[in-house]
Amino acid sequence: MEPQGRRGFLKPVHRKPSKIALAYSGGLDTTVAIHWLREKFNAEVITVTVDVGQDDDFRDIEERAYKAGAIKHYTIDAKRDFAEGPVAMAIMANALYEDRYPLGTALARPLIAEKVVEVAKREGCDAIAHGSTSKGNDQVRFNEALMALAPDLMIIEPAKIWGMNRAEEVEYARKHGIPIPSVHSRFSIDDNLWSRSIEGREIDDPGVEVPEDAFKWTVPPEKVSEPLMLEIEFREGLPIAINGEKMDLVNLILLLNKVVGAHGFGRVDHVENRVVGFKSREVYEAPAALTLIETHKDLEKLVYTPLEYRFKRFVDQTWADLVYGGLWHEPLREELDTLIRSMNRWVSGVVKVKVFGGLTILGRESPYASYNKDLVDYVSGWYPSEEEARGFIRMHVLHSLTAYRARHKA
Ligand code: ARG
Repeated sequence: MEPQGRRGFLKPVHRKPSKIALAYSGGLDTTVAIHWLREKFNAEVITVTVDVGQDDDFRDIEERAYKAGAIKHYTIDAKRDFAEGPVAMAIMANALYEDRYPLGTALARPLIAEKVVEVAKREGCDAIAHGSTSKGNDQVRFNEALMALAPDLMIIEPAKIWGMNRAEEVEYARKHGIPIPSVHSRFSIDDNLWSRSIEGREIDDPGVEVPEDAFKWTVPPEKVSEPLMLEIEFREGLPIAINGEKMDLVNLILLLNKVVGAHGFGRVDHVENRVVGFKSREVYEAPAALTLIETHKDLEKLVYTPLEYRFKRFVDQTWADLVYGGLWHEPLREELDTLIRSMNRWVSGVVKVKVFGGLTILGRESPYASYNKDLVDYVSGWYPSEEEARGFIRMHVLHSLTAYRARHKA
């Protein structure tokens, strides 16, 4: 066996790279990085753009990669892998970091890393580069996945090394004839099928209201004139049809983002505890994610026993913390996946909702509901006898009242 000390995850790999696979978003940082990597290491750069449903023009991105000096470019359509892999797990796990953030960015990072590693190996690269800065969570997620999947490849993070600010990057691009991407938003955006993350500028102040031009997928609730009625059908924990129409997960998510967003639901604004030691104000748009998680949770509650329900909440939260924290390859995550999938075998049924600014659940049904109308009905049906009820209550409160008496001795 190879001595562990030589593996990249214990000891960073340092060498002069000759062929670098760059995770390429098409933005300013990674475009400048193409030229910078070539110049600094005299290396060949292969760019890899992974399509996880972000709203980008991939032909434009490819063209820009070549103009900036890439020797080869890959556009990889990973929408289906993304939806049916990490996103499907996130639905079954009701994944919301700190109860609010549906984790779009966090879920995509390990998959993007995996796709870049595949290209790097196919092309015989000796290094992988990505555009993370040293202040975000994404550096942790990318590097964790790269160290897990390609421990022998060197990791290069130009934006941590070059010491240029945005204006200096623009200047660098001008000087070297690198095409500068047109900016679609004045905020820093990361989007994919599952959510759109919005950061920066004035919203870095958590006390400031988010300006309307930060949003793209959702309209403000006050602009909505008509309610939207939806029936979402789940089978074994995953949505399979909307209003009776079956569709695959990618299209179902795209549809919900569109129609739910247009009915004023899907915004998140919270203060988030980052992995890297400080809080940040984060804003998201995620109409499909929030709708699917709300309805899925509701169906689980109909189906699960109270013990299952309470335990699952803890499992879900742990799963979300692992994913947020960039520990995708932590073995516990896979163990939890197994449990989450298994518990979701019973989560089938239909949830009816109304979207009108907010989301209201109107009703739910499941062949596996652990709900019995006769038990709850006040009018007819079964009633415990007075004696049964009294005996039950006595035993139920006994622990508490014994302790209560001990502490409040008259
Ligand atoms: N705060 C979110 C997260 O950590 C969103 C990050 C957005 N990332 C980005 N590169 N703009 O997952």
